[in-house]
Amino acid sequence: MHGSICPLWLLLLVTILACTTPVIGSSAQCTSFTIPHLEGAALLGTTYFKVNERVNISNLYSAIDTDTLPAFCRVELVITTNATANSSALTELWLPDDWNGRFLAAGQGGLAGGVDVADLGFIAIQQGFAGVSTDTGHSSDADDGTWAGPGNDNAIIDFGWRALHLSVITGKEVVKGYYGRSATKAYYIGCSTGGRQGLKEVQMFPDDFDGVVVGSPANWMSHLMSWSVHISLNVLPTTSPRFMTPAIWSDVIHPEVLRQCDGLDGLQDGIINDPRSCSFRPETLACRPGQNTSTCLTLPQIHALHRIFADYFETNQTYIFGPYYPGGETAYPDGLVGATSFPLPQNWMRFFVLNDTEWTMDEYNASIPRICEEVNPGQADAVNPNITVFVGPSHGGKILQYVGWADQLISPGNSIHYYESVHAFMQAETGRDIDEFYRLFTVPGMNHCRAPADVFVQDGFGANAFGGAGQAASGMPPISLDAQHNILAALVEWVEHEEAPSTLTAAYYNNNNVTAGVNFTRPLCKFPASLRFVGGNSNDAASFECVT
Ligand SMILES: *[C@@H]1O[C@H](CO)[C@@H](O)[C@H](O)[C@H]1NC(C)=O
Ligand SMILES: *[C@@H]1O[C@H](CO)[C@@H](O)[C@H](O)[C@H]1NC(C)=O
Ligand SMILES: *[C@@H]1O[C@H](CO)[C@@H](O)[C@H](O)[C@H]1NC(C)=O
Ligand SMILES: *[C@@H]1O[C@H](CO)[C@@H](O)[C@H](O)[C@H]1NC(C)=O
Ligand SMILES: *[C@@H]1O[C@H](CO)[C@@H](O)[C@H](O)[C@H]1NC(C)=O
Ligand SMILES: *[C@@H]1O[C@H](CO)[C@@H](O)[C@H](O)[C@H]1NC(C)=O
Ligand SMILES: *[C@@H]1O[C@H](CO)[C@@H](O)[C@H](O)[C@H]1NC(C)=O
Ligand SMILES: *[C@@H]1O[C@H](CO)[C@@H](O)[C@H](O)[C@H]1NC(C)=O
Ligand SMILES: *[C@@H]1O[C@H](CO)[C@@H](O)[C@H](O)[C@H]1NC(C)=O
Ligand SMILES: *[C@@H]1O[C@H](CO)[C@@H](O)[C@H](O)[C@H]1NC(C)=O
Repeated sequence: MHGSICPLWLLLLVTILACTTPVIGSSAQCTSFTIPHLEGAALLGTTYFKVNERVNISNLYSAIDTDTLPAFCRVELVITTNATANSSALTELWLPDDWNGRFLAAGQGGLAGGVDVADLGFIAIQQGFAGVSTDTGHSSDADDGTWAGPGNDNAIIDFGWRALHLSVITGKEVVKGYYGRSATKAYYIGCSTGGRQGLKEVQMFPDDFDGVVVGSPANWMSHLMSWSVHISLNVLPTTSPRFMTPAIWSDVIHPEVLRQCDGLDGLQDGIINDPRSCSFRPETLACRPGQNTSTCLTLPQIHALHRIFADYFETNQTYIFGPYYPGGETAYPDGLVGATSFPLPQNWMRFFVLNDTEWTMDEYNASIPRICEEVNPGQADAVNPNITVFVGPSHGGKILQYVGWADQLISPGNSIHYYESVHAFMQAETGRDIDEFYRLFTVPGMNHCRAPADVFVQDGFGANAFGGAGQAASGMPPISLDAQHNILAALVEWVEHEEAPSTLTAAYYNNNNVTAGVNFTRPLCKFPASLRFVGGNSNDAASFECVT
């Protein structure tokens, strides 16, 4: 064929084909699309959405209702995860007409239970990625663990790692079939359980992604779930003299935390830039004789706070998990240390680990972390520090991680612990500098991920919008999609142009809602650096610097 001239009949044929084959990225192509023959995957349907058409889709786990998206094709699949057991997962691909050539998987939160349609829309489609997300093999809200059985091992494995991995493999083929070419690069974004899923992929299937954005990962489930129960028991039951009401947390403890800790970063602004620099002393709030106990702390409460703000070591000096860091007191008055309304850890113990549907938190004992580690349901733990294949020269993978300093659902200490374990391992085994492939950014004042408002009540006060998972979907998109303000774009720059981010810039919107306007911008520092005010307009990111 080389050098030959196209005969006229071939040109004619090409013209006819072009007229009868729908244009890639069009309504006709979407509705007539049939997935390539793939073992273990079946098409449930396709739906085309025109630009700015209303997209109103919900499942038990996630919802989207907007008319702001570019045009895309929604492809719904069922993926067989174990043919013998007839177990399966629901997976969706959202394929934009105006494709940037890249693949993006979006992860989950809590115990999952539905395709993350919110992030498919507000991250993948909004930024031109071909997006994939899976329900991880069961349909439920994020706190529900009853689907796990006990004893529903295939569903537990699907949640642990299998459904996402198979969805990625299948999803890449679907993308290729739809656009007629493979994605140039594959990315991942997720927070909480989503962070765990990202790290699990890095450790177990290093070829799946070129780069992952990992937010406050639940990657040490065996320890996290034990810690969640353990730390709650410092104040429970609600009738105990140790218990502190939401009002005590927000109106008594939080102001004292700010009094002791806020100014250390050079600015008294209600945000503790680095809580590691402050060791909070609750005894300053001790009740004086005759004082009204809604305005001060009793001795049992002070002892409980000492335990809550300290690192946890079990009786045998085994490290369990990080502590609460001072600053997040207003965020989860009904969260872990209120725990009356947070069923997830108890569900985990009941349905995943102990196989005892009657188990309650007060039955916790010091052997539970070890039992959790031994069972490790669905191999959900993602704590292997050996990521040499993912980051090795033949793959060149990158990890961008973030965590809110005020996260009280998954201690920031956990992010630091895993990061440091990789740091030590890679240094010893390969001599490589972790900075070349793994960077962790800390977010002053931010709580857990900035999850959708229907899951958690508040998300803290601080510059907390920077393109993380679930953020745009809950009314706080990054102020710009460029690499300085949008963590996914920063990852793409790093993977594709070797431009590694040294800082990010995040925004605080009044009421954590973009419609209320930007209040201030701040840099996010790369661990272990912390943020300091250097003078000038405190609403401007340029008035701050990261110092180590
Ligand atoms: C979206 O769908 C839900 C129910 O599925 C409905 O209650 C709601 O009104 C819809 N929103 C719009 C704007 O149509
Ligand atoms: C598939 O499910 C069957 C039946 O539950 C089980 O025996 C088998 O171990 C499972 N296979 C895998 C790879 O999980
Ligand atoms: C397999 O599961 C699907 C639903 O996921 C069901 O429709 C089908 O009947 C099942 N097949 C068998 C052989 O049990
Ligand atoms: C609970 O059941 C699972 C099988 O579903 C098993 O792997 C696990 O070891 C059991 N847990 C305990 C504490 O025995
Ligand atoms: C104690 O303080 C609370 C809250 O300020 C108030 O509601 C309550 O009435 C006070 N109790 C007494 C006995 O003064
Ligand atoms: C701790 O709890 C587990 C699970 O309920 C139980 O099997 C074990 O016997 C308990 N250990 C002690 C020392 O109480
Ligand atoms: C602590 O260590 C002792 C001695 O090795 C052992 O008997 C005990 O079971 C351990 N306790 C826990 C909670 O693991
Ligand atoms: C790390 O993982 C690689 C790839 O699986 C393996 O070859 C190597 O032996 C591991 N290193 C250590 C120290 O376990
Ligand atoms: C943001 O504010 C607008 C206007 O008040 C409101 O309609 C919207 O629901 C808010 N968004 C969120 C996520 O709270
Ligand atoms: C920023 O927030 C503070 C405190 O809520 C408020 O007083 C101020 O008016 C806000 N500034 C802007 C520019 O919205």
